[in-house]
Amino acid sequence: MKTLWPGATIGVLGGGQLGRMMALAARRMGYRIIVLDPSPRCPTAQVSDGVVVGALDDRDAARHLARQVDVITLDTEHVPADVLDELDKIAPVRPGPTVLRTIQDRQVQKQFLDGLGLPQAMWAPSSDRIQLADALAKVGRPAILKVRRAGYDGKGQVRIEADGDPFSQLEKLRGEPAVAEELVPFKREISVILARGLAGDLQIYPIAENVHRRHILHTTRAPAPMTTEGKRSAEEIAVTVAEALGHVGVIAVEMFELPSGKLLVNEIAPRTHNSGHYTYGACVTSQFEQHVRAICGLPLGDPRLMTGAVMVNLIGDLWRSGPPTWQPVLARPEARLHLYGKDAPAPGRKMGHVLLLDDDTDRALATADQLIADLSATPSSSA
Ligand SMILES: Nc1ncnc2c1ncn2[C@@H]1O[C@H](COP(=O)(O)OP(=O)(O)O)[C@@H](O)[C@H]1O
Ligand SMILES: [Mg+2]
Repeated sequence: MKTLWPGATIGVLGGGQLGRMMALAARRMGYRIIVLDPSPRCPTAQVSDGVVVGALDDRDAARHLARQVDVITLDTEHVPADVLDELDKIAPVRPGPTVLRTIQDRQVQKQFLDGLGLPQAMWAPSSDRIQLADALAKVGRPAILKVRRAGYDGKGQVRIEADGDPFSQLEKLRGEPAVAEELVPFKREISVILARGLAGDLQIYPIAENVHRRHILHTTRAPAPMTTEGKRSAEEIAVTVAEALGHVGVIAVEMFELPSGKLLVNEIAPRTHNSGHYTYGACVTSQFEQHVRAICGLPLGDPRLMTGAVMVNLIGDLWRSGPPTWQPVLARPEARLHLYGKDAPAPGRKMGHVLLLDDDTDRALATADQLIADLSATPSSSA
């Protein structure tokens, strides 16, 4: 097991904001970064040493990248596992193709969680009318239908109400294979982010408490207020998942907390996670540096939180009439602005985030909502 010291080259499949923030951390440490993405101007390419332009399932382009790097990692779980198998023969892919194969299909992921005996919402395959009728008999209504592959930020999800025609909802998924889930009456959502090193060593981040709006992450608060027992069981679930997968790198396990305190696994993200952005500024070692350390075989860093933090996402809707005026954010000494360099703002698209460093996280959550209101109200800086 060779350690890849600074000076080595990391290949990233996919050039979104996760790759960008990892590249910033990696380059600070002296690593080189080459990214594969269809756009030469993608967020990661802007801060990388090189870019291979190509689709994520373009085998020639992916092999071209693999031959130039010492290790390969991913900005998204939606790279076909067969491509990863091929690349793994050229340079190690971390996390490995098996991890991705288990996660990238929601149905396989749910079967994997069932196999581990971990609690999750009731679910059933639901790709056609017959399956949907059976699934609703099992999970009840309201329910949520989710496509098995390539969904994110609530894309590829439709809700089935207690009344109304469920089949017309199924048609909205245009024949994509899907699963149905019960609608979980959760009290709140949390996520556990941890890193697993090449030798199987683990470091767990403080648990994050997440609020979603329209199925998109709105705010994260860290640390999430947790009972000792709740913290222990959440961490135990996440560790079980990471070890069963044989994961290498950062991994996030999203969970629903029921009013009784019981936890259900919502989904697994085998990568750095939006709810871990607070670590970049609030923790001794950010999730991005931690991921680099894990995939390069370095010792893991300290995940300790140095201050309470709230992260609020900046969604493309704020760009309705041009880029917002950043004055309300930059005027606050505890706020840090992160923009991802995306040139095409669209409603629902994640454009950046603000991190508020404040031990009083209730106050920071209120500030976050105030900032979003102010940014929505301010005239565009380009006006
Ligand atoms: N079964 C469910 N019950 C209640 N809310 C849900 C359910 N599934 C998803 N949601 C809500 O939608 C959000 C996004 O869904 P998720 O399955 O995490 O998909 P993704 O993050 O890949 O878009 C969740 O964080 C949660 O707020
Ligand atoms: Mg999710």
